[in-house]
Formats: sequence, C-alpha cells, structure tokens
Amino acid sequence: MHKLVVSLSLFAIFIHSVFGDCTWPNGTDIGKHWWQLPSSIFNIYGLLNTNSQGQQEYPIHLNAPVLAILYVNNTGPVIRQVQVDIDLAEWNPSNCKWNTIPTFGLLSNLNGCSIGISCPIPQGNKILKVTIDFSQFQAIIGLLKNDAAYQMQITLTNQATGDKIVVFDQARAETN
Ligand SMILES: *[C@@H]1O[C@H](CO)[C@@H](O)[C@H](O)[C@H]1NC(C)=O
Ligand SMILES: *[C@@H]1O[C@H](CO)[C@@H](O)[C@H](O)[C@H]1NC(C)=O
Repeated sequence: MHKLVVSLSLFAIFIHSVFGDCTWPNGTDIGKHWWQLPSSIFNIYGLLNTNSQGQQEYPIHLNAPVLAILYVNNTGPVIRQVQVDIDLAEWNPSNCKWNTIPTFGLLSNLNGCSIGISCPIPQGNKILKVTIDFSQFQAIIGLLKNDAAYQMQITLTNQATGDKIVVFDQARAETN
C-alpha cells in the first residue's frame, strides 16, 4: 500500500513536471495576469479590474459589471472614435486550453465612447475605463463555470486609422 502511494506520488510529480500545472494558467489562482500585444503608438502600462463601486476584488465577478481600468500612454494621434471588441474564453484545466465562449456578437463592435471611455483619447498619459458587462446577457452568463480562469481579450480600434490596440486580461472569476 505504502509503495503504491509512493509510486503514485512519483507519477504525479512526473506528470506535473512534464506537462506543467494546468489548473490555473499564469498564476491566476492568486492574482490576475495581463499583457498587451506590441504597439508602436499606444502603450498600456497598467491594468486593474474593479467592480462597479470601484473596489478591487479577487476573484472577480462576471455576473456583475467589471471595469477594466487601463493606464495608457497614447504616443500616436488623438483617438476620436474607438471601437471595442471583447472576446471571452474559459480555461479548461483538463486539456490546458482556452475555450472560446460564444458571445453572439453582443460584445463586438461596441462604441467605446459609450461604455466608459471618455473620448477623445488625447496624446500622452490617460486613464481609460472600459465597462465590461456580461451580466446583462443571461445567454452568456448561463454558459460560464463558477470559479474558473477566464481570459478577456479587449481590442480597441481607432476608427479613423484602423489601428488596433489589443490587451489580454486573465483572471479567476466567480459567476454566481
Ligand atoms: C501566459 O501569459 C503569457 C504572456 O505573459 C502568454 O503569452 C501566454 O499565452 C499565457 N499562457 C496562457 C496559458 O494563457
Ligand atoms: C509617454 O510617451 C512619450 C512619447 O514617447 C514619452 O515622452 C513619455 O515619457 C511617456 N510617458 C510615460 C509616463 O511613460
């Protein structure tokens, strides 16, 4: 019996070291992880998530509006009209992959100036607030697993130039 336990634990360690720990990607069990795709005209140097009362909480709650607060440096032109597209994925710990959650177009082609961003976005440093609200879409919320890792990909498009600014935000979230 003891031998069996030892060999099972060794096997577990072996699996763990060969395949990595798949449970929570990028340390999302204890804190959020984010990054921006390279851009020569727009630098995001900070990203916080808060609830609609402005409080930071972890895990975050996707069944209520979530604010993404972006600390940005716009080194390109002033952005007058900004389109926002949000893609959502849920982590699958059994195959170590992100599964795209269908959002039925409800979170695509949004007018950034009407979901929290104060437009225009001037050159230089600025704090942008983007309200992400899945809670109004029961069709989406009903698909989500409680207490899992989620990835929100937020794409901001300068409608005048077509330039895209892409940021990934991974966090542990509760949905009920
Ligand atoms: C973890 O974060 C890095 C960027 O810091 C990203 O390239 C990578 O794809 C992320 N891993 C997962 C599993 O999402
Ligand atoms: C913002 O970008 C400009 C132009 O590159 C630079 O001069 C300035 O130092 C940057 N500000 C911050 C806080 O990084």
